[in-house]
Amino acid sequence: MTPSDVKATLSFSDGSPNMDLPIYKGTVGPDVIDIRKLYGQTGKFTYDPGFLSTASCNSTITYIDGDKGELLYRGYPIEQLAVGCDYMETCHLLLYGDLPNAEQKASFTARVTNHTMVNEQMQFFLRGFRRDAHPMAVLTGLVGALSAFYHDSTDINNPEHREIAAIRLIAKMPTLVAMAYKYTVGQPYIYPKNDLSYAGNFMRMMFATPCEEYKVSPVIERALDRIFILHADHEQNASTSTVRLCGSSGTNPFAAIAAGVACLWGPAHGGANEACLNMLGDIQKMGGVAKVGEFMNQVKDKNSGVKLMGFGHRVYKNYDPRAKLMRETCYEVLNELGLQNDPLFKLAMELEKIALEDDYFVARKLYPNVDFYSGIVQRAIGIPVPLFTAIFALARTVGWIAQLNEMIGDPEYKIGRPRQLFVGSPTRDVKPIGQR
Ligand code: SDX
Repeated sequence: MTPSDVKATLSFSDGSPNMDLPIYKGTVGPDVIDIRKLYGQTGKFTYDPGFLSTASCNSTITYIDGDKGELLYRGYPIEQLAVGCDYMETCHLLLYGDLPNAEQKASFTARVTNHTMVNEQMQFFLRGFRRDAHPMAVLTGLVGALSAFYHDSTDINNPEHREIAAIRLIAKMPTLVAMAYKYTVGQPYIYPKNDLSYAGNFMRMMFATPCEEYKVSPVIERALDRIFILHADHEQNASTSTVRLCGSSGTNPFAAIAAGVACLWGPAHGGANEACLNMLGDIQKMGGVAKVGEFMNQVKDKNSGVKLMGFGHRVYKNYDPRAKLMRETCYEVLNELGLQNDPLFKLAMELEKIALEDDYFVARKLYPNVDFYSGIVQRAIGIPVPLFTAIFALARTVGWIAQLNEMIGDPEYKIGRPRQLFVGSPTRDVKPIGQR
């Protein structure tokens, strides 16, 4: 953080003393006004529900330029990472700050691969769930339950513990997501097979059965690996902020990541990919492309409560670069699988075209986000719709861990404890029940 030579001066119309507030500059992006001394000097809080104008931390991990539609992981544009790297390289970049060379990549991948199994006891947690439980309900429970096993990596303030917990979480998420899926379809769990790639291992744990060998399709393996890269991190989004706030109490890394999984599930956040595909399915049932106009009218009618899922973003007021890459992946995968006439893909592209020409969306700078096309790709490669958000959680785990470790590694970090504007009842006395 570089102090700016510009100061902010706060003045009050009631003649209260002015206050100078320091401004700090980052490498790129908006400057920040440091208000840490505001309450101490003025007795006033700032007020910013939803944090539209609040920077909660300083970070070196991910930068988003919402106006330009740019996304950088440790300075590398997502477009270059998605084409020139794989998910293991991206994990190394997010965790340690740089892309690995061949030797570092091999060593990192080997460490992750050697932690893909979960404790055999974990399978007994699943028996407590109904078979029709949502996979995110199961995953939230399983990730939190990891802290019941790995006592040698639960001290978040111990760098060695943080390191091994990071490797364990990245390695075990695919195994846990696949177990959550197998439980819902009544099939036996498939153990990881460590001569496969990260994405290939996951597909095999999802779709192999003990009755026959599963051959990993290179098309699907590559598409899934790219999906993981595109979802790996995204600055201080709701679930990452949840992980940071949760971790700031000193709780163990597994519990903090479980909090992130729970937050991501919401339809306004990671749950949007599942909601978007269900929305496309509903429009298809209504009559498909011919009914898009009618659906859009519902979206623009505030009273309908209907949103165009997969559209809009708190930060991107331009096209989400991940949505562009996801659409390209959609195109490639559907063509390679001979599904180029997939009706939902055609419907999605028609919806996008209409929305981008409609003043309601243009005026509000609403563009497709990462969730708009991700569901179509995942459905095309055989991922069941209820698993979409679990895949998002799987991929985002490395980002959550990198952000959590960055916070814990900052000597200045404190437990997060926002304040409030109290608008409730002033002090009043309790009356005996007979007088209430
Ligand atoms: C993710 O933060 C991240 O980085 C998240 C994420 C990540 O990688 O971690 O990028 C992943 O969560 C992507 C977002 C997925 N969610 C959806 O696709 C759900 C649909 N989108 C909306 O719910 C909404 O756009 C949000 C939640 C994403 C953003 O909400 P904001 O920033 O609070 O914006 P807003 O709700 O104030 O919207 C501004 C206006 C409003 O209309 P007015 O009151 O000004 O008339 O735009 C409208 C909204 O009603 N609007 C939409 C809309 N999104 C916003 N109208 C119709 N359809 C939509 N999708």
